[in-house]
Amino acid sequence: MAKAKQPPIPAEMLPKHIAFIMDGNGRWAKKRGLPRSAGHIEGAKNFKKIVRYCKDIGIENITFYAFSTENWKRPEDEVHTIMNLMREYLVEVRKYFTENTRMIILGDKGAFEPDLRKSFEDLEADTLKYQEMNMGLAVNYGSRDELTHACRALAQQVKEGKLQPEDITEDMINGQLYTKDMPDVDLLIRPGGEYRISNYLLWQSAYAELYFCDTLWPDFSKKELDAALIEFAKRNRRFGGL
Ligand code: FPP
Repeated sequence: MAKAKQPPIPAEMLPKHIAFIMDGNGRWAKKRGLPRSAGHIEGAKNFKKIVRYCKDIGIENITFYAFSTENWKRPEDEVHTIMNLMREYLVEVRKYFTENTRMIILGDKGAFEPDLRKSFEDLEADTLKYQEMNMGLAVNYGSRDELTHACRALAQQVKEGKLQPEDITEDMINGQLYTKDMPDVDLLIRPGGEYRISNYLLWQSAYAELYFCDTLWPDFSKKELDAALIEFAKRNRRFGGL
Protein backbone atom coordinates (compact mmCIF):
# COMPACT_ATOMS: atom_id res chain seq x y z
CA MET A 1 0.00 0.00 0.00
CA ALA A 2 1.31 3.50 -0.86
CA LYS A 3 2.51 5.38 2.19
CA ALA A 4 1.27 8.84 3.10
CA LYS A 5 4.88 9.98 3.58
CA GLN A 6 8.17 8.83 2.17
CA PRO A 7 10.33 7.26 4.92
CA PRO A 8 13.92 8.52 5.23
CA ILE A 9 15.30 5.06 4.38
CA PRO A 10 14.08 2.46 1.85
CA ALA A 11 10.82 0.90 3.07
CA GLU A 12 12.33 -2.60 3.14
CA MET A 13 14.97 -1.40 5.62
CA LEU A 14 12.49 0.07 8.10
CA PRO A 15 12.42 -1.57 11.53
CA LYS A 16 9.39 -3.82 11.92
CA HIS A 17 8.98 -2.76 15.54
CA ILE A 18 10.09 0.46 17.20
CA ALA A 19 9.86 0.74 20.99
CA PHE A 20 9.92 4.22 22.53
CA ILE A 21 10.77 5.20 26.10
CA MET A 22 9.20 8.65 26.54
CA ASP A 23 11.66 10.12 29.02
CA GLY A 24 12.36 13.70 30.05
CA ASN A 25 8.89 15.20 30.47
CA GLY A 26 9.61 16.35 34.02
CA ARG A 27 12.89 18.01 33.08
CA TRP A 28 11.27 19.66 30.06
CA ALA A 29 8.76 21.31 32.42
CA LYS A 30 11.36 22.20 35.06
CA LYS A 31 13.51 24.00 32.48
CA ARG A 32 10.51 26.23 31.81
CA GLY A 33 9.56 26.76 35.44
CA LEU A 34 6.38 24.72 34.94
CA PRO A 35 4.92 21.90 37.07
CA ARG A 36 5.94 18.37 36.02
CA SER A 37 2.39 17.75 34.86
CA ALA A 38 2.88 20.32 32.11
CA GLY A 39 5.71 18.15 30.82
CA HIS A 40 3.43 15.12 30.63
CA ILE A 41 0.77 17.14 28.81
CA GLU A 42 3.38 18.20 26.25
CA GLY A 43 4.74 14.64 26.16
CA ALA A 44 1.29 13.28 25.35
CA LYS A 45 0.97 15.79 22.48
CA ASN A 46 4.29 14.67 21.10
CA PHE A 47 3.33 11.02 21.50
CA LYS A 48 0.34 11.60 19.18
CA LYS A 49 2.53 13.38 16.63
CA ILE A 50 5.08 10.57 16.58
CA VAL A 51 2.40 7.84 16.35
CA ARG A 52 0.91 9.61 13.35
CA TYR A 53 4.30 9.97 11.69
CA CYS A 54 5.18 6.29 12.25
CA LYS A 55 1.88 5.32 10.66
CA ASP A 56 2.42 7.65 7.71
CA ILE A 57 5.87 6.27 6.88
CA GLY A 58 4.75 2.65 7.25
CA ILE A 59 6.10 1.36 10.58
CA GLU A 60 4.01 -1.72 11.34
CA ASN A 61 4.55 -2.08 15.11
CA ILE A 62 5.22 0.62 17.67
CA THR A 63 5.20 0.50 21.45
CA PHE A 64 5.35 3.39 23.91
CA TYR A 65 6.27 3.25 27.58
CA ALA A 66 3.61 5.48 29.15
CA PHE A 67 3.53 4.24 32.75
CA SER A 68 5.69 1.69 34.53
CA THR A 69 4.86 -0.61 37.45
CA GLU A 70 7.20 1.67 39.47
CA ASN A 71 5.57 4.97 38.42
CA TRP A 72 2.79 4.54 41.04
CA LYS A 73 5.40 5.77 43.55
CA ARG A 74 5.26 9.28 42.03
CA PRO A 75 3.30 12.11 43.73
CA GLU A 76 -0.45 11.62 43.58
CA ASP A 77 -1.13 14.68 41.40
CA GLU A 78 1.43 13.56 38.82
CA VAL A 79 -0.10 10.06 38.62
CA HIS A 80 -3.52 11.69 38.39
CA THR A 81 -2.42 13.87 35.44
CA ILE A 82 -1.03 10.90 33.54
CA MET A 83 -4.22 8.87 34.17
CA ASN A 84 -6.34 11.76 32.93
CA LEU A 85 -4.19 12.15 29.82
CA MET A 86 -4.84 8.49 29.12
CA ARG A 87 -8.56 8.96 29.67
CA GLU A 88 -8.61 11.83 27.17
CA TYR A 89 -6.54 9.89 24.70
CA LEU A 90 -8.80 6.84 24.91
CA VAL A 91 -11.72 9.01 23.83
CA GLU A 92 -9.75 10.90 21.17
CA VAL A 93 -8.13 7.84 19.63
CA ARG A 94 -11.53 6.51 18.64
CA LYS A 95 -12.00 9.51 16.36
CA TYR A 96 -8.54 9.62 14.80
CA PHE A 97 -6.10 6.78 14.78
CA THR A 98 -8.03 3.60 15.04
CA GLU A 99 -8.49 3.30 11.31
CA ASN A 100 -6.75 0.07 10.64
CA THR A 101 -4.60 0.41 13.78
CA ARG A 102 -4.85 -2.29 16.39
CA MET A 103 -4.40 -1.01 19.92
CA ILE A 104 -2.67 -3.36 22.34
CA ILE A 105 -2.32 -2.57 26.02
CA LEU A 106 0.92 -3.90 27.50
CA GLY A 107 0.68 -4.26 31.25
CA ASP A 108 -1.58 -5.44 34.03
CA LYS A 109 -4.84 -3.53 33.59
CA GLY A 110 -6.14 -4.82 36.94
CA ALA A 111 -4.53 -1.93 38.84
CA PHE A 112 -6.50 0.81 37.08
CA GLU A 113 -9.74 2.43 38.12
CA PRO A 114 -12.70 0.51 36.65
CA ASP A 115 -13.60 3.15 34.02
CA LEU A 116 -10.05 3.29 32.70
CA ARG A 117 -9.69 -0.46 32.73
CA LYS A 118 -12.92 -0.85 30.77
CA SER A 119 -11.85 1.79 28.22
CA PHE A 120 -8.56 -0.05 27.68
CA GLU A 121 -10.38 -3.36 27.24
CA ASP A 122 -12.99 -1.90 24.89
CA LEU A 123 -10.36 -0.22 22.74
CA GLU A 124 -8.42 -3.47 22.41
CA ALA A 125 -11.55 -5.44 21.55
CA ASP A 126 -12.84 -2.86 19.07
CA THR A 127 -9.56 -2.63 17.15
CA LEU A 128 -8.68 -6.33 17.18
CA LYS A 129 -9.40 -6.74 13.48
CA TYR A 130 -7.20 -3.87 12.26
CA GLN A 131 -4.03 -4.91 10.52
CA GLU A 132 -2.09 -1.95 9.15
CA MET A 133 -0.30 -1.16 12.38
CA ASN A 134 -0.09 -2.48 15.93
CA MET A 135 0.13 0.31 18.49
CA GLY A 136 1.20 -0.90 21.93
CA LEU A 137 0.73 1.31 24.94
CA ALA A 138 2.67 0.11 27.97
CA VAL A 139 0.75 1.07 31.10
CA ASN A 140 1.42 -0.38 34.54
CA TYR A 141 4.05 -2.30 32.61
CA GLY A 142 7.28 -3.86 33.78
CA SER A 143 9.20 -6.49 31.89
CA ARG A 144 9.97 -8.56 34.97
CA ASP A 145 6.32 -8.44 35.97
CA GLU A 146 5.34 -9.58 32.47
CA LEU A 147 7.81 -12.48 32.59
CA THR A 148 6.62 -13.43 36.08
CA HIS A 149 3.05 -13.66 34.76
CA ALA A 150 4.29 -15.77 31.84
CA CYS A 151 6.10 -18.16 34.21
CA ARG A 152 3.01 -18.51 36.38
CA ALA A 153 0.79 -19.28 33.39
CA LEU A 154 3.15 -22.01 32.13
CA ALA A 155 3.65 -23.39 35.65
CA GLN A 156 -0.13 -23.68 35.96
CA GLN A 157 -0.23 -25.77 32.77
CA VAL A 158 2.51 -28.01 34.18
CA LYS A 159 0.59 -28.36 37.44
CA GLU A 160 -2.52 -29.39 35.51
CA GLY A 161 -0.49 -32.03 33.68
CA LYS A 162 -0.99 -30.35 30.28
CA LEU A 163 2.68 -29.53 29.79
CA GLN A 164 6.01 -31.11 30.69
CA PRO A 165 8.73 -28.71 31.92
CA GLU A 166 11.18 -29.99 29.31
CA ASP A 167 8.70 -29.17 26.55
CA ILE A 168 8.63 -25.45 27.35
CA THR A 169 10.00 -23.51 24.39
CA GLU A 170 10.94 -19.89 23.75
CA ASP A 171 7.88 -19.59 21.52
CA MET A 172 5.65 -20.68 24.40
CA ILE A 173 7.15 -18.03 26.66
CA ASN A 174 6.75 -15.47 23.88
CA GLY A 175 3.13 -16.56 23.53
CA GLN A 176 2.45 -15.53 27.13
CA LEU A 177 3.71 -11.97 26.68
CA TYR A 178 1.55 -8.89 26.04
CA THR A 179 3.41 -8.51 22.75
CA LYS A 180 2.60 -12.03 21.55
CA ASP A 181 1.14 -10.71 18.28
CA MET A 182 4.09 -8.43 17.54
CA PRO A 183 7.57 -9.18 16.20
CA ASP A 184 10.65 -8.61 18.37
CA VAL A 185 11.79 -5.02 18.86
CA ASP A 186 14.22 -3.97 16.11
CA LEU A 187 14.89 -0.46 17.33
CA LEU A 188 14.56 0.86 20.87
CA ILE A 189 14.65 4.65 21.16
CA ARG A 190 15.21 6.45 24.44
CA PRO A 191 15.40 10.24 24.40
CA GLY A 192 16.05 12.13 27.64
CA GLY A 193 19.78 11.51 28.10
CA GLU A 194 19.64 8.33 30.20
CA TYR A 195 21.38 5.23 28.88
CA ARG A 196 19.30 2.39 30.27
CA ILE A 197 16.32 0.21 29.37
CA SER A 198 14.42 0.56 32.66
CA ASN A 199 12.62 -2.80 32.71
CA TYR A 200 11.06 -2.22 29.26
CA LEU A 201 10.53 -5.13 26.84
CA LEU A 202 13.65 -6.97 28.00
CA TRP A 203 12.78 -10.28 26.34
CA GLN A 204 11.50 -8.63 23.16
CA SER A 205 14.59 -6.39 22.83
CA ALA A 206 17.17 -9.19 23.06
CA TYR A 207 18.59 -8.19 19.65
CA ALA A 208 17.22 -4.66 19.37
CA GLU A 209 19.41 -1.84 18.18
CA LEU A 210 19.52 0.81 20.90
CA TYR A 211 19.31 4.52 20.10
CA PHE A 212 19.80 7.11 22.84
CA CYS A 213 19.70 10.88 22.51
CA ASP A 214 19.71 13.86 24.85
CA THR A 215 16.57 15.56 23.52
CA LEU A 216 13.78 15.54 26.10
CA TRP A 217 10.71 13.59 24.97
CA PRO A 218 8.38 16.58 24.38
CA ASP A 219 10.98 17.94 21.93
CA PHE A 220 11.71 14.63 20.20
CA SER A 221 10.76 15.50 16.63
CA LYS A 222 10.00 13.66 13.41
CA LYS A 223 13.41 14.85 12.22
CA GLU A 224 15.08 13.12 15.16
CA LEU A 225 13.14 9.98 14.44
CA ASP A 226 14.41 10.18 10.86
CA ALA A 227 17.97 10.45 12.24
CA ALA A 228 17.38 7.32 14.38
CA LEU A 229 16.08 5.44 11.34
CA ILE A 230 19.07 6.46 9.23
CA GLU A 231 21.38 5.30 12.03
CA PHE A 232 19.42 2.03 12.29
CA ALA A 233 19.83 1.39 8.56
CA LYS A 234 23.63 1.71 8.94
CA ARG A 235 23.92 -0.83 11.75
CA ASN A 236 25.18 -4.28 10.94
CA ARG A 237 22.79 -6.68 12.65
CA ARG A 238 24.25 -10.14 13.13
CA PHE A 239 21.89 -11.70 15.70
CA GLY A 240 24.81 -13.57 17.24
CA GLY A 241 26.16 -14.82 13.89
CA LEU A 242 29.10 -13.49 11.89
C1 FPP B 1 9.00 9.87 31.83
O1 FPP B 1 9.45 11.19 31.99
C2 FPP B 1 7.59 9.87 31.45
C3 FPP B 1 6.60 9.28 32.15
C4 FPP B 1 6.84 8.52 33.39
C5 FPP B 1 5.21 9.38 31.71
C6 FPP B 1 4.99 9.44 30.24
C7 FPP B 1 3.59 9.73 30.00
C8 FPP B 1 3.12 10.48 28.99
C9 FPP B 1 3.98 11.05 27.92
C10 FPP B 1 1.67 10.76 28.88
C11 FPP B 1 0.94 9.47 28.60
C12 FPP B 1 -0.27 9.73 27.95
C13 FPP B 1 -0.64 9.14 26.82
C14 FPP B 1 -1.85 9.65 26.18
C15 FPP B 1 0.11 8.05 26.20
P1 FPP B 1 9.88 11.68 33.44
O2 FPP B 1 8.70 12.24 34.10
O3 FPP B 1 10.55 10.56 34.17
O4 FPP B 1 10.89 12.80 33.08
P2 FPP B 1 12.15 13.24 33.93
O5 FPP B 1 13.16 12.14 33.85
O6 FPP B 1 12.59 14.48 33.23
O7 FPP B 1 11.67 13.51 35.33
